[in-house]
Amino acid sequence: MAERVRIFDTTLRDGEQSPGISLDVAEKLEIAEQLARLGVDIIEAGFPVSSEGDFEAVQAIARTVKGPVIAGLSRTHRADVDRCWEAVREADRARIHVFISTSPSHMEHMLHMTEEQVLAETRAGVARAREHTDDVEFSPQDATRTPLDFMIAVLRAAVEAGATTLNIPDTVGYGIPWDFGALIQYVRREVSGDYVTSTHCHNDLGLAVANSLAGVQAGARQVEVCVNGLGERAGNAALEEVVMAIKTRPDQFPGLETGVRTEELARASRLVSRLTGYPVQYNKAVVGRNAFAHESGIHQHGVLAERTTYEIIDAGSVGQTGSQIVLGKHSGRHAFSDTLAKMGLTVQGDALNAAFTRFKELADRKVQITDADLEAIVAEELGTSVEQAFTFEELEVSGGTVATPRARVVLTRSGEKLEHTAEGDGMIDAACKAIKEATGVDTRLTDFNVSSVTGGVDALGDVIIQLEAEGVKVSGRGVSTDVVEASARAYLNAVNKLLRVRGRKDARTPEATP
Ligand code: KIV
Ligand code: ZN
Repeated sequence: MAERVRIFDTTLRDGEQSPGISLDVAEKLEIAEQLARLGVDIIEAGFPVSSEGDFEAVQAIARTVKGPVIAGLSRTHRADVDRCWEAVREADRARIHVFISTSPSHMEHMLHMTEEQVLAETRAGVARAREHTDDVEFSPQDATRTPLDFMIAVLRAAVEAGATTLNIPDTVGYGIPWDFGALIQYVRREVSGDYVTSTHCHNDLGLAVANSLAGVQAGARQVEVCVNGLGERAGNAALEEVVMAIKTRPDQFPGLETGVRTEELARASRLVSRLTGYPVQYNKAVVGRNAFAHESGIHQHGVLAERTTYEIIDAGSVGQTGSQIVLGKHSGRHAFSDTLAKMGLTVQGDALNAAFTRFKELADRKVQITDADLEAIVAEELGTSVEQAFTFEELEVSGGTVATPRARVVLTRSGEKLEHTAEGDGMIDAACKAIKEATGVDTRLTDFNVSSVTGGVDALGDVIIQLEAEGVKVSGRGVSTDVVEASARAYLNAVNKLLRVRGRKDARTPEATP
C-alpha cells in the first residue's frame, strides 16, 4: 500500500494574497469545485476573520464543496478561532489552521511579544480550536528564521494542546533544500506525538518546490501548495510541479503517492489564471503552453519516433492535449450544454444563454473550436453573470497608419443605452477611453497582457487587463477572435469588478493579512 502525501491547496488563501487578485465568492467557489475535481486533500478556503467577503467565501465553500477537508486560517486569538470555526463548521470535514509568528524579527517588530507570551498564545489558540474540531493544524510563522530550540518548544506546546498537523512555513522563502529537509527531520525527531508534518514553502529564491520535495523526503506527509505557484511575493510551491515530481520519480519517493487526478491539472491552471488575471508563463513546467513543445529538429524527430526520447511526462496525463470538439455553427443549445457538462462545466440560466450566444458568434468566425476556446468564452460569461454594472453591447473601431484611431462603444446600464466615441494612440487605447467615458469610472491601466487561447490565424485572443483606482487593484479578462474587442471586454470586466469590490464593505485590513 502506497503512503499518501496530502496535498493542501492554499490558492484561495495564500494565492489570493498575490497583488491585484480579488476573487468574488462565486469565483472562489468555482476554483474550489475544480480543486475538488482535481482531488486535493485539503482546501484552505480563506482567512475568515480578515473580511466579511472572506468569511462568506469560506462558508459557501464549506457548505457546498464535497470531498476535500475545508480549512480556514486563524490567528491564535479566541475570537479569530471562533470566527474561523463559524465559517468552516458546515463542511463534511473541517479544519482550523492556527498560526503565530515565532521568529525574533516578527516577535519584536510585529507581535511585540516575548517567547513566553507566544508559547501561551500557541497553547490557548490550539486548545480553543480543539474545542471545536479534532482536526487542528498549527504553523509557527517564519519557522526557518526561528531559533531551533524555541521552535521545538512551540511545536511541543501545540501538540500538547491538541494540534494534529504541524506545518513548517518558510514564510520568506529563505530555505535551501538540504537545510530545509534537515529541519523537517529535526522536528520529527524532537517533537513526539501523533501528528502529520507539513511544508509551506515560499519561492523568493526560486526553491519552493525543491524545498517542499526535500521536506517530503525527510518525512513530511502534507505539502502546502498553490495552483500555478501563486502566492505572496514570488509565490508558493506550485501544486502541479510538486505532484508531478512525486509521480514521475518513484525512485526518489518510494512508496509515496498523492491523490491528485493529474489529467485535471491543465484545466485547474487555466481556470485559476483566468479568474485571477495572472497569466501562466509560456515555459512554466507542467502547465505552460510550451511545456510539451519541441522546437529543434532533432528533438522533433526524436519525439515523433518515440515520445519518451525528449519527454518525461505524457502531455495527456496532465490534461495538456486540447481535443477538437465537434460543435459547429449549426449545433443547438442542447448539444452545447451537453458538451459543457462532459467537460465538467456546469452553466445554467442567463449565463448559459450568454455563453451560447458567444459560442454562436465564435462559430461564425472560427472554423475549429477547441475545449480551451469553449472554456474561455464560458469563463468570461460566468464572470459576467456575477453582477455587472455595465454590459458590453457593441464596438466599432477605425484607424490604421494614416487615420486617427477612433472607437465607438455601446454599453447598457440597467437597460439604459450608453454610447461614446473616443480617439486614442491606437484602436485599443481608443476603445478603453470610450469605455472610460461611457462608464464615468476613472482608473489607471497598470498592466496589459495579450496571448492566444490556441494556435492558428483564427485563434481567440485572450486579453488580461489590470486597473488601479484609489489603491484598489483589479483585473479583467476578455476573449475574442479580434484583440481590440477582447481588450474592450477585458477593460469593461475590470471596471465592473472594481465597482463590485468598491461596493463591498469588506475590504481586508492589512494587519489581518498573514
Ligand atoms: O507563509 C506563511 O507563513 C503563511 C502561514 C500563515 C502558514 O502563509
Ligand atoms: Zn504563506
